[in-house]
Amino acid sequence: MDVSFLLNGETVELSGVDPTHTLLDWLRRTAGLTGTKEGCNEGDCGACTVMVREPDRAVSLNACILFLPQLNGKSVWTVEGAAAGPDLHPVQQALVDYHGSQCGFCTPGFVMAMVSAHVNGDTAHDDALAGNLCRCTGYAPIIRAAEAAAQDPVPPHLAETSTAPSAAPSPHAPRSSDELAAIYAEQPDATLVAGATDVGLWVNKALRDLDPVIFLSGCTDLRQIKSVGDSLRIGAMADMNAVRDAVTPLFASYGEMIRRYASVQVRNAATIGGNIANGSPIGDNPPALIALDAVLHLRKGDTRRSLPIEDFFIDYGKQDRAPGEFVEAVSIPHQPDRLKCYKLSKRFDQDISAVLGCFNVRVEDGHVAYARIAFGGMAATPKRAAQVEAALWGQPWTEATIRAAQAHFPTDFAPIDDMRASAVYRLGTAQAMLQRYFAEDAGLASSVLEVSA
Ligand SMILES: Cc1cc2nc3c(=O)[nH]c(=O)nc-3n(C[C@H](O)[C@H](O)[C@H](O)COP(=O)(O)OP(=O)(O)OC[C@H]3O[C@@H](n4cnc5c(N)ncnc54)[C@H](O)[C@@H]3O)c2cc1C
Ligand code: FES
Ligand code: FES
Repeated sequence: MDVSFLLNGETVELSGVDPTHTLLDWLRRTAGLTGTKEGCNEGDCGACTVMVREPDRAVSLNACILFLPQLNGKSVWTVEGAAAGPDLHPVQQALVDYHGSQCGFCTPGFVMAMVSAHVNGDTAHDDALAGNLCRCTGYAPIIRAAEAAAQDPVPPHLAETSTAPSAAPSPHAPRSSDELAAIYAEQPDATLVAGATDVGLWVNKALRDLDPVIFLSGCTDLRQIKSVGDSLRIGAMADMNAVRDAVTPLFASYGEMIRRYASVQVRNAATIGGNIANGSPIGDNPPALIALDAVLHLRKGDTRRSLPIEDFFIDYGKQDRAPGEFVEAVSIPHQPDRLKCYKLSKRFDQDISAVLGCFNVRVEDGHVAYARIAFGGMAATPKRAAQVEAALWGQPWTEATIRAAQAHFPTDFAPIDDMRASAVYRLGTAQAMLQRYFAEDAGLASSVLEVSA
């Protein structure tokens, strides 16, 4: 494939690119820019962070799970381009002044995550740096440096938002959903690549040879998020930070849950379409979308169909998606915000859920008038708690009803033991989440309620 982008302000034109060549490998081995480090090679540590400068924002990304064709037409900055001439960038100077580096291995990644936040005027430093791991300095001096640098203006070279012309069109890089529909219908065995936060690991860790591939990054129409009729329609290519911005005013707890979805770098790449299409039982969006009664829109060629999102997930690794069919969008019906999402993971940030419980219950005249409850991490697919819901419908909204409903979790779910949690712990946690939802709704401190075994 041919790829063209700006690198630290200079045009790069590449031809005959292997579609799954990562930016990190190319920077270090071909371009000789070894400032960008390889730590985990799977999106976890942030040592490889680079910045893509878009017209309205800066986007930090992990170069280790970023394929070169995803950069077509973009403006990429690495740590070598952060400083202008002999003057350090304000975040670099602050890291020196506040002793924010020891061995220095993580430092270029921190610098680029901080440079991106600095361009965006983002002062939520803990969140902005949740995807960068440091094993020797400790985070306090780094956060102090970020706070100090936030007082300085953005250097002019990083305020610049020019982009490179894209390379010639390729059958592997459609520029719209219409082109994608035509190409994919002809090559239904191709691997679709959206944000590559799953696919990147198939290449780096599972050493899979993906051929052919179709990149969705040029399908900008699939990034749209807008109200259509009585629903919020989210295009499949909307990244998780964009989804967070869109859902937070409508469903605050969903937005807060996405704050804990991986890291800024991963959320800037990961798409809602990829998170649904991969069918993972521990993906964070599906349980929230099921609890909100969302509708999934699929397209194959010129044929479109829509289905309740819960019906998409058939079994482990099996979804209701035909060859050549892709996820086009998901629609969430507008409704009063009753949703609560409880994500349980071993770490607060940058961790996959062990259990994710999403509760959407309406109480009228003291009785349950509506209940949709869905879980991740409790079955082979994201799944509704149908028997628990049935035990709530029409019942008085009381602790006795909650206790009766909790008894139905083992009918709905037979979770497994794995490295994230045991089956017993998962069941007990799910029951406790229902209790917490009730306690929060009733204005009780959840600690006064016992957790049933
Ligand atoms: C460090 C790290 C942390 C993570 N943390 C979380 C987390 O906290 N919560 C969570 O839920 N996930 C997490 N993930 C997993 C990952 O981010 C998500 O599954 C992500 O949403 C996948 O989206 P993507 O755009 O990157 O998909 P890709 O990797 O590009 O694709 C994933 C799969 O979906 C297919 N696909 C993509 N788009 C479409 C489409 N429009 N139609 C049909 N098929 C499509 C691809 O062919 C592929 O099979 C994490 C991943 C990493 C690397
Ligand atoms: S090397 Fe760890 S996130 Fe890329
Ligand atoms: S300074 Fe050594 S890992 Fe951060």
